[in-house]
Amino acid sequence: MSRLELGVCYYPEQWDRSLWRDDARRMVEMGLDWVRIAEFTWGLIEPERGQFNWGWLDEVISILGEAGLRVMMSTPTAAPPKWLIDEYPGILPVGSDGRVRGFGSRRHYCFSSEVYLSEARRIATEYARRYGQNPYVRAWQIDNEYNDHDTVLSYSGAARDGFRRWLADRYGSIEKLNNTWGTVFWGSAYSSFDQVELPNGLVASANPTHALDFARYSSDRVRLFNRAQVDVLRELSPGRDITHNFMAGSFEFDHHAVAADLDIAGFDSYPLGNLLESTLLDEDKRRYLRTGAPDYQGFHCDLYRSQGSGRMWVLEQQPGPVDWAEKNPSPADGMVRLWTWAAYAHGAQAVMFFRWRQAKFAQEQFHTALLRSDGSPDQAAVELAQVASERNTLPLSTRVRAQVAILLDYESIWAAEILPHDAAFPNAQIYREWYAGLRSLGIDLDFVGTGDDLSGYALIVIPQCMIVSPDLAAKLRACQAKLLIGARAGSKTNDMHTPQNLAPGELADLTGVRILRVESLPDLAQETVRLQDGTKHEFTGWREIVETNETLIASFSSTYRDGSPAIVRSDRAIYLAMVPRGALLQAVLTEALNWVGIPITESSPDLRITRRGDLQFAFNFGPDEQPLPDVKTRKYLVGASVIPPFGVSIWVEEAAT
Ligand code: GAL
Repeated sequence: MSRLELGVCYYPEQWDRSLWRDDARRMVEMGLDWVRIAEFTWGLIEPERGQFNWGWLDEVISILGEAGLRVMMSTPTAAPPKWLIDEYPGILPVGSDGRVRGFGSRRHYCFSSEVYLSEARRIATEYARRYGQNPYVRAWQIDNEYNDHDTVLSYSGAARDGFRRWLADRYGSIEKLNNTWGTVFWGSAYSSFDQVELPNGLVASANPTHALDFARYSSDRVRLFNRAQVDVLRELSPGRDITHNFMAGSFEFDHHAVAADLDIAGFDSYPLGNLLESTLLDEDKRRYLRTGAPDYQGFHCDLYRSQGSGRMWVLEQQPGPVDWAEKNPSPADGMVRLWTWAAYAHGAQAVMFFRWRQAKFAQEQFHTALLRSDGSPDQAAVELAQVASERNTLPLSTRVRAQVAILLDYESIWAAEILPHDAAFPNAQIYREWYAGLRSLGIDLDFVGTGDDLSGYALIVIPQCMIVSPDLAAKLRACQAKLLIGARAGSKTNDMHTPQNLAPGELADLTGVRILRVESLPDLAQETVRLQDGTKHEFTGWREIVETNETLIASFSSTYRDGSPAIVRSDRAIYLAMVPRGALLQAVLTEALNWVGIPITESSPDLRITRRGDLQFAFNFGPDEQPLPDVKTRKYLVGASVIPPFGVSIWVEEAAT
């Protein structure tokens, strides 16, 4: 049970120290509880190896703490200093084009560098010794946004050496590697681990198991790097929560695994910044240009809340226009408040705004903040003040387990990227589309990973899970949930091979289907899926030719194998032989929810309803007023039964008298 806590990201090193005390006072006046600092300060704290300049940071922490703020300290490993790079140039990451990515911005390190790993441990130890027991330091952030600027996959010499060691460890013998990778194909067998190179810069596509193993190796390096700092902080800063700020839309490493080592799964929420590059239709991009797509933030909140076992913080919340997308529009007035309440409704314990004052120099000058660069309050400060006062009207609350969970598997996302068959296969995007489809039917959602406890759900939806291990299949069999399973599930083994019994491999008994062939169609194909009630929906892209004795829910109308099964239902699972989108997806999701008996609430596309314990929230992402149903037992704590554009209403149900 918790009330919403509020915070801000602060860069005192960029401002004259005469401002610090007043900044702290104003933060408290605005209702902020937390201040996150220091994630890019290594070069300032240790300007030369072994020379430490702590004084200014000591002073900042005292000023903030004495003003009544709790400090989230950061380890500064996202920006190694120039002297360190000069000492060990091998720390730098290498792009897939083989070019070294240099010093002068940030994240210029390779996760595979053993030197950097030990330097990161060393500097984390210095910071933790200095501040680990400081009474004002109440939490830690490790590093900053692991995959920012695409830095998880690095093709350096260190990566090659590390990958070879990882392979030797995984396979034990080169014969085993050759068999598993199937290097007999194109005669690419190896005679020792030292011959194996990284899967970039090749003439044609890399061997898929080679590429998947490199993705797994790279993900393991992130976990190891994070874990090394967790261990330092656990020892030297007991009692403080440890977090990392994951990114929205990042799937390049296994976030389930990294989150398992943290206390809080944090993430950075920039709902507008990612809109234009999304696959939404232009008309939707236009409609949500100043709000962000209604489910974009919610998706990440629910995903990371689930990974944090209920503990999720927004560590950076967009305050106004950002500076890093192709185009950077202003959010509509009201959206910073809406996003903040929506994060809370989806389970956030705290929301921290990025950043306190807009920068006057260097890279992010156009990025807005709570304050303008002259110190005057910008729109986000006005909305923050409103949230800070509204939160006092709410009772404490916590999210409860949902009835429906989405199974999200990072390895399957990498696998589908490596072996797409359909170049436009939506892959990670499928998860967002299914999430949005379910949310628009009024369903609250959890996420689960393949290692998680699956019990207690009525329905588990599996949009894309190409690799299904025997363990996962056994868990799915043993849990009580009904399953909605998307195409190509179980189509590869852990080794990236076709299962002996063909797809869906380990899911054959649960689904009662056998996939005889797959094809992928271009958009111009104009083929349809025909449901049992006679309605028809266009589909394109991935299609499977299915053999089954189970109940047919829909079939294909096609110029090839007309009438072949498109949707099949067994007693435990609905299986889809294509990737439904748009209206077809809504029909499929509705079918599954009706089957399980979960009630659906359809509402305007701009409206989202979310529950957090006894509190219910409604958010209006559109430009028109949204009336809520006239329910007498609702007691509104914030807003009312008609929600203005970009507005929020929060209520509890009272017993009818
Ligand atoms: C984040 C990053 C911050 C800042 C912000 C700007 O990705 O963590 O340091 O650059 O973007 O929106």
